[in-house]
Amino acid sequence: MSNWYNLPTYYDVSFSYEMQDELTFLKRIFNRIFNKNNIRLLEPACGTGRLLVPLVRHGYQCTGFDLNRNALLYLKNKLKRLDLNANIFEANMVDFNIRSSGYDGAYCTVDTFRHLLTENEAVQHLRNVAKSLNKNGIYIVGLHLLPKQGITSKVSRWTARRGRLTVNTSMALIDQSNKRRTETLKVILKTRSKHQDKQFESIYKLRTYTKKQFNKLIAKTNAFTIETIFDEYYDLSQPVTLNERSDYGVFVLRKKQGQT
Ligand SMILES: C[S@@+](CC[C@H](N)C(=O)[O-])C[C@H]1O[C@@H](n2cnc3c(N)ncnc32)[C@H](O)[C@@H]1O
Repeated sequence: MSNWYNLPTYYDVSFSYEMQDELTFLKRIFNRIFNKNNIRLLEPACGTGRLLVPLVRHGYQCTGFDLNRNALLYLKNKLKRLDLNANIFEANMVDFNIRSSGYDGAYCTVDTFRHLLTENEAVQHLRNVAKSLNKNGIYIVGLHLLPKQGITSKVSRWTARRGRLTVNTSMALIDQSNKRRTETLKVILKTRSKHQDKQFESIYKLRTYTKKQFNKLIAKTNAFTIETIFDEYYDLSQPVTLNERSDYGVFVLRKKQGQT
């Protein structure tokens, strides 16, 4: 059994699949809100820098951290190869400590926030992000929500290619508990390169949120308010109002006035 975050080359190819709308959304929203050069961004759990690298390339000053050393090494090598600069270090989303705060914005999409498996961890993380942001800073969090009717599609499959490498990904929901507020996912990666075919399996848990539970969490932090919400189409001209059937939300959280 492998942890697919330990396989940065394959993770990066797989998750870069159809990420253009997500990236464009981030650039547009940060530009619209901050309207200045040298916008400073923080990406908790940045992984391989799937989003961070193109943002640096577009002129944002980025800091990213993650727990996974393989992912960080991959990211540092990529930045070096492209002659780009970013502040990258190893830290936990729960108790990271950033000495130089002053970030304009932070972002954490594709369910990464749900890796925080307890309410305490999630609250601590959100308060820490708020601390690292400037007055009026924003935090963009994108995650799947548990819809009232339950999860209808239990397996997602996609194929991504980069050069001679093909990565087939299947992500299946194999367990879900409303009581424990967890779901268990099994990811199978089938990779094909010039020389060989490989297969990897990874199983991990994520915390679940209904719309109401996420709203309640944000209120509990006393650090952010929910300013706007978008859906999985990342269309900046179409903010949405979530309902009990919504299954993905991109929350634009605004740091509360009076927070240091
Ligand atoms: C779905 S990946 C997202 C990576 C990157 N943000 C992206 O958008 O491609 C989730 C990442 O969260 C990291 N991670 C999980 N729990 C973490 C924690 N407690 N602290 C820091 N990183 C964590 C994993 O190592 C992995 O790189």
